[in-house]
Amino acid sequence: MSTLGALLRQTEARLAKAGIPDARLEAELLWTTALNTDRTHLYAMLRDTPGPAAAEAARQLIVRRLDREPVFYIMGHREFHGHDLLVSPGVLIPRQDTETLVDEALRLLAALGAPNPIVADVGCGSGAIAIAIAAAVPGATVHAIDVSDAALALTARNADRLGLGGRVWVVRGDLLQPLPEPADVIAANLPYVMSGEIPTLEPEVSRYEPRIALDGGETGMVFIERLLREAPGRLRPRGTIVLEMDPRQIEAASRTAREAFPGAAVRPVRDMARRERVLVIET
Ligand SMILES: C[S@@+](CC[C@H](N)C(=O)[O-])C[C@H]1O[C@@H](n2cnc3c(N)ncnc32)[C@H](O)[C@@H]1O
Repeated sequence: MSTLGALLRQTEARLAKAGIPDARLEAELLWTTALNTDRTHLYAMLRDTPGPAAAEAARQLIVRRLDREPVFYIMGHREFHGHDLLVSPGVLIPRQDTETLVDEALRLLAALGAPNPIVADVGCGSGAIAIAIAAAVPGATVHAIDVSDAALALTARNADRLGLGGRVWVVRGDLLQPLPEPADVIAANLPYVMSGEIPTLEPEVSRYEPRIALDGGETGMVFIERLLREAPGRLRPRGTIVLEMDPRQIEAASRTAREAFPGAAVRPVRDMARRERVLVIET
């Protein structure tokens, strides 16, 4: 019988051999899931020998990961902007990159200073953006819109778990069409991968994450362009739009934004890796 420390090393070696990056971290995450604990407690258990039930649970999780299922689908949750969010197959796993968009939306809301701002999260997925904003701005009402029933159900569950169900409202529909009132901030991380590039993405993404959350058409900009053209009239005075995109799309999206909102201040925001990942339109 092996100690947890030895089992972790074996798991790390198997994941690394299969070409999975960050194999040590992932081995730890899989074992925390099998042992129903967290990483801090895991380190205190390194000399223990896991029982047969935990060993079998870990074996099954490792097989799934070796098949390139994303570790966060296997774990069933992921941290985003300081909140533990449930994730589930059929809904995009929230990315750390998207915290740049949230931080910018929060700066804009603080500058606006409205006590009860109205926010739209278009293409809400797991509810990551809607929930991070509602949690940080206690007076905010957030309309979380998606075409996917799985995404809307997950957003509602995540909002309820975090006590935000009364301020995050899920609405089914296409882009801004179901938005019930003009918003102070429209935030959106819409599908923006070029259709032709989807097969070239990591297998975790191309095989397991929903195409409806990724595919932005030939240029990747179908939804971004449509949202920008449909947004006039959907904002309150001094309203703003914050959009996540591929850095290669910033220039074209800026042009569309200036056409849709002549006179608006349009500027890109860089992420932690210094890439222009978010476009801000201040009207
Ligand atoms: C890239 S995911 C983003 C999910 C989430 N906002 C996040 O940042 O993790 C894009 C989301 O847009 C949704 N979506 C796709 N087409 C849409 C449309 N026409 N109207 C509204 N939502 C749409 C997808 O179902 C998916 O949940």
